[in-house]
Amino acid sequence: MNQERRDKKMHLGAFFHPTGNHVAAWLHPNAQIDAGTNFEHYASITQTAERGKFDLMFVADAVAVRNGKLQALRRWPQYMAYFDPLTLLPALAAVTKNIGVVATATTSYNEPYHIARKFASLDHISHGRAGWNVVTSSAVNEAWNFGRDAHYAHDQRYDRANEFVEVVKGLWDSWEDDAFIRDRSTEIYFDPAKLHTLNHGGKHFKVRGPLNVARPPQGHPVLFQAGSSEAGRESAARFAEGVFTPLHTLPGAQDFYRDIKGRMAKYGRKPEALKIMPGLNAIVGRTRKEAEEAHRFLQSKIHPDVGLELLSIQLDNMDLSQYDLDGPLPDIPDHVAAETGQTAMRNIVRWSKEEGLTIRQIYERYAGARGQRTVIGSPVEIADDMERWFRNYGVDGFLYHPSHLPGGLDAFVDLVIPELQNRGLFREEYEGKTLRENMGLERPKSRYAAEGCRAKRGG
Ligand SMILES: Cc1cc2nc3c(=O)[nH]c(=O)nc-3n(C[C@H](O)[C@H](O)[C@H](O)COP(=O)(O)O)c2cc1C
Repeated sequence: MNQERRDKKMHLGAFFHPTGNHVAAWLHPNAQIDAGTNFEHYASITQTAERGKFDLMFVADAVAVRNGKLQALRRWPQYMAYFDPLTLLPALAAVTKNIGVVATATTSYNEPYHIARKFASLDHISHGRAGWNVVTSSAVNEAWNFGRDAHYAHDQRYDRANEFVEVVKGLWDSWEDDAFIRDRSTEIYFDPAKLHTLNHGGKHFKVRGPLNVARPPQGHPVLFQAGSSEAGRESAARFAEGVFTPLHTLPGAQDFYRDIKGRMAKYGRKPEALKIMPGLNAIVGRTRKEAEEAHRFLQSKIHPDVGLELLSIQLDNMDLSQYDLDGPLPDIPDHVAAETGQTAMRNIVRWSKEEGLTIRQIYERYAGARGQRTVIGSPVEIADDMERWFRNYGVDGFLYHPSHLPGGLDAFVDLVIPELQNRGLFREEYEGKTLRENMGLERPKSRYAAEGCRAKRGG
């Protein structure tokens, strides 16, 4: 592809794992040790990302503590104790002005009405900066907190997710943008003709509506997705406006880019209505040597108990304890491989079979990056890599994963962002006021206004 064809700017998100992306991040002297439940920490890193003009900050979520061997988990505190994102994000919105605030919420263990209401509220509180990462959950321990003994099967949960998102979007359209007249002279607060009852009845949900929150400032908060299985890609093409799926090689990214954007037409969507922003685990130093040292330090802190546990979780809790760490990964039983269709598992098997990595090498690669692509180097080297992927239509931007927080993020904002700006690849000022405007996404029209329909208020 022609390097010069692309003159737009890239989009950047910052993924805030509590202490950072690296499993041993909390051991870094420049990481906030109690990050998961330290609001001032989140406020400060979000303000740093805003200083760097990031489109958005993002926090992941699960509705359970990790399920695993406490022997390992005691050394790996990430996602054991941390804030509920939809309590955290409104508070972060209050201490920032421009940056998008995006969080995960699972469609498997929520009801659409709850999610529609929370994200609509967040969008109002943040004046149009809310985004929702739609996930289906992948761990059974979440099921155990919601009256189930087993997680939904992969296809079943994507089927539920697709209907869930349709219902949420329908609820967000409950009120037309100009439904609230609030006229003291006529003593009319809202126009009943602009209030719509969804009356959804589908395979998974029965939801009457309307929503008890006015239409969000963005129309709909921005929708993200991170799956890469066949079902995940199809859901992305159907509704996602940002995709965080990990991509490891430029040709692989270009295939993914073409594939997802190519699938959108059948849902009546234009390719530019979705931005592909895979993870980038960038470790930067003033020199390459400094960056490599920072990485080596974190890698040296991966305890084998943690490394094995991390791998075992990705392999459906397969017990690896009896195998030699410096030998090959055993064959993955068919029932494990067949069950999930998970991307992480596919990558791990590929690293073992195609690259011949040992168990230790695999867990070091996975643990260091948590399955994301790693780039280590000087600001120029990192910007070169990002530019190549962007200009060659592998991506529309990146979801940057700071290795440790706040240190890794500070370095990226001070060293890499100016380099990208100097090359004209990244904004110097926010273009708009809402996350949609900054991401170059259209504001969706209300389905009722769009149809010119004035449906009668349902019973
Ligand atoms: C950047 C990124 C963030 C993710 N965040 C979450 C999350 O917060 N909660 C969650 O349950 N899954 C999360 N996932 C997992 C995905 O939602 C998805 O389940 C996984 O990528 C497997 O997708 P697939 O089954 O379609 O291959 C995330 C994945 C990525 C790449």
